[in-house]
Amino acid sequence: MENAKPINMVLLGPPGAGKGTQATRLIEAYKLLHISTGDMLREAVKEGGDLGGKLSDYMNRGELVPDEIVTKVVIERMSRPDAQGGVILDGYPRTCKQAESLDAALAGSGKRLNIVLYFGTSEDVLIQRLSGRRICRGCGRIFHTVNMPPKVENICDDCDGELYQREDDKPETVKNRLKVYEQSTHELIEYYREKGLLQEVDGSAPAEELFEAIHVLFQEKGLI
Ligand code: AP5
Repeated sequence: MENAKPINMVLLGPPGAGKGTQATRLIEAYKLLHISTGDMLREAVKEGGDLGGKLSDYMNRGELVPDEIVTKVVIERMSRPDAQGGVILDGYPRTCKQAESLDAALAGSGKRLNIVLYFGTSEDVLIQRLSGRRICRGCGRIFHTVNMPPKVENICDDCDGELYQREDDKPETVKNRLKVYEQSTHELIEYYREKGLLQEVDGSAPAEELFEAIHVLFQEKGLI
């Protein structure tokens, strides 16, 4: 699909709202770069060292990683050549301070955000989704034991990789992540509403239906 111009967008919403699932579809359809801070931080944890250990402490408690660490990683990633055709920021910003840093960095490079998609979803749906989420160790594809099961239990449809459950999808951590979302991230809805960028979509809808609705929204906004 042809984009009218590079699209720079933020996916905003609570844990489990379906941001990563839609990001996978959107990057393919609109040829955008997916920048997921959660994925980048999990990679850093895998690499280990002092930083990896420190990050996993925050993440396994369901707390946010300090703003300075995340912002540095995102801004550096956005400055590379493959980000110039448009990006999907998934999981960033998470605080108003991060949003202000992002605005400053975009302005400094003559870019701006085009749209912020807010995935409205009820808490019951979020808990059901997070408890059943499984991820492929090989390619990172996201499944769900009930909503989007693999053809063969615990095996990825695409690459035959083993599926695993994220450490922070365990019930105690999920509760804290939802609390932290309410306390730290929820305020971003107003931040972006005031800037006229916020578009609410129905995160509870089936994934294909939601993807179609986003496509229509992009057409209405003249982004494609
Ligand atoms: P991160 O990895 O960003 O996690 P999150 O925001 O909590 O979001 P999730 O990945 O859990 O959910 P999602 O909305 O992508 O849902 P998904 O599509 O997988 O962050 C993890 C941690 O990293 C944070 O807690 C923090 O410590 C740290 N961090 C990250 N960014 C940070 C930042 N900017 N600042 C500070 N710290 C940061 O879907 C969930 C499940 O539902 C899946 O199983 C899927 O198959 C299923 N599903 C999805 N859509 C549908 C649908 N429409 N219908 C039915 N099922 C569906």
